[in-house]
Amino acid sequence: MDERRLKDSFARVAAHGDEVALFFYSHLFLAHPEVRDMFPVSMSVTRDRLLTALGQIVSDVSNLDSLVPYLSGLGRDHRKFGATPEHYPAIGRSLIATLAYFAGDVWDDELARDWTDAYTLVSRVMADAARRDEEQHNPPWWDATVVGHERRAIDIAVVTVAPAQQLSYRPGQCVNLEISQRPRLWRLYSMANAPRPDGTVDFHVKIIDGGQVSPVLGRGPGIGSALRLGPPFGSLVLDTSSANDIVMAAGGTGLGPLKAILEQLGHRGQSSTVPRTHLFVGARTAAELYDLADLEKMAASNPWLTVTPAVSHERGSPGDSALRIESGTVADALARRGTWRDHDAYVCGSEAMVTATVSRLTALGASPERIFIENFGWSEL
Ligand code: HEM
Repeated sequence: MDERRLKDSFARVAAHGDEVALFFYSHLFLAHPEVRDMFPVSMSVTRDRLLTALGQIVSDVSNLDSLVPYLSGLGRDHRKFGATPEHYPAIGRSLIATLAYFAGDVWDDELARDWTDAYTLVSRVMADAARRDEEQHNPPWWDATVVGHERRAIDIAVVTVAPAQQLSYRPGQCVNLEISQRPRLWRLYSMANAPRPDGTVDFHVKIIDGGQVSPVLGRGPGIGSALRLGPPFGSLVLDTSSANDIVMAAGGTGLGPLKAILEQLGHRGQSSTVPRTHLFVGARTAAELYDLADLEKMAASNPWLTVTPAVSHERGSPGDSALRIESGTVADALARRGTWRDHDAYVCGSEAMVTATVSRLTALGASPERIFIENFGWSEL
């Protein structure tokens, strides 16, 4: 397979913009009207999500080994759409037809064969993982109900849900979530607590202006309202084999998964066995530091934990909290502490925050292979 030609031809196709997704979905829904119901009613916003991912993943087939964990997760996750092994060739045919239509004069039999082979390899990994998941009697999704809602800032809420069946996950992982008010619009959220005996799960929700799901979820979908959770996945999890001290950097609601990992550390019991951990938590303003009260309690009862809040868009101040709020970004705050050599670092927040923090940590001595961020496979490649 000529990877260069796969990538170049996809770039040529993608240059046609919106037309490409329109062609792909028209082709798919004409040939297979039965799959239309699996997709959102209005596809104006998300129309190219699947297609862009498809092209990027498939043309990166030479990296297949490193993509396997991500693709397996994706295959399991696709069970919630109702995707079955029979659907994969159908998507493949529409993909190839779309590429052939838009690739222009570079399209020939050899390129068609390469795309077909690459797609077959990728879809096999996904379909196999989905089949194994089914054989293990895992549900395609978890039904859940909202049991708590707390507005913590003007645009941030903590929503607590109770899954009907036990949801097993590792702290730091995330799920796709669908609320009954917005059918088929799945959005990714991280579990913000370590697994609890009662099985309830918190999600930290940032209300995005103009968003379709977060305004409903964040303003309170109503206690008792129904939602569905996809299978847990994600690689931002604690390396339990490491004895290094830990630095954590959270931006906004990126705190959620890191708080789950903090709780996991707390459950280890004996303080002497828990690595010393320094959490830096950042927001634009003090009003947006929505979880300070909880973090303060955690720091007070766990001697291994230090918490430093920082605000980037106003001057820091002692505020109402026992924790002194520093000025600047999370990266600025951790730079003031000197070096982070021999630490494991866990970073979560917006893409810009993660990029800036990782580069600052590296400059401050943290080793790149000891810096853990969420890696959704293809998007990082
Ligand atoms: C190699 C094959 C495939 C790849 C790499 C792939 C990849 C993806 C990715 C990355 C997304 C966006 C993330 C997400 O929403 O979870 C997605 C969404 C989706 N996929 Fe797939 N997929 C494949 C095959 C299929 C098949 C066979 C079906 C079943 C007909 C399917 C149905 C969907 C649906 C319904 C969505 C949601 C679209 C939206 O919300 O706009 N996919 N896929």
